[in-house]
Amino acid sequence: MKRNFLMGAAALAGLMTLSACGGGAGSDANAPAPEATEAAPAAEPAATEAAAPAPAAGAEYASFTTDAAAGEKVFALCRSCHVLDEGVNRVGPSLHKVVGRKSGSVAGFAYSDANKNSGVTWTTDVLFKYLEDPKGFMPGTKMAFPGIKDAQDRANLVAYLESQSK
Ligand code: HEC
Repeated sequence: MKRNFLMGAAALAGLMTLSACGGGAGSDANAPAPEATEAAPAAEPAATEAAAPAPAAGAEYASFTTDAAAGEKVFALCRSCHVLDEGVNRVGPSLHKVVGRKSGSVAGFAYSDANKNSGVTWTTDVLFKYLEDPKGFMPGTKMAFPGIKDAQDRANLVAYLESQSK
């Protein structure tokens, strides 16, 4: 899985490099020799970049090596509105055992229609995507949180939530 992704990323980066270099030479696309030699070295740094600290943007949750203890620190971003205690709703609903829960299912919390009717189940994959851009993922949600752009931080947070959901 990971390998496929990296190869895909490298191929994509290669393509982007090609079209970037293409510029005015676009009509020469049929001349194979110069482009082929250019593409080969360009693909290498891209692959190293993708492999270096973590999978690149757009990667699946499963492709990350997670650290739940680090994720607990990331959860500080959520604490102003959420706690993990059962039945304790703040600005946001309790996140008690949130992994595996159906959206909008906490009793006594006044959800938006968007959240209540989204039909999603909060699996690790769904949380990982949602938390990158909550309003993009769920238009109309009243969760006023811009999202966590750093994918590794997000993966660690999801791992923490999962560790607390057992
Ligand atoms: C500014 C307050 C606020 C912050 C910060 C916040 N949330 Fe929320 N969250 C809410 C509100 C409000 C809702 C209810 C959304 C709705 O009904 O549309 C919500 C809903 C959710 C839900 C859906 C729960 C369900 O039962 O369907 C999840 C999951 C969630 N938040 C996770 C998080 C995580 C993880 C963080 C930290 C990265 C976070 N939230 C940060 C306010 C917040």
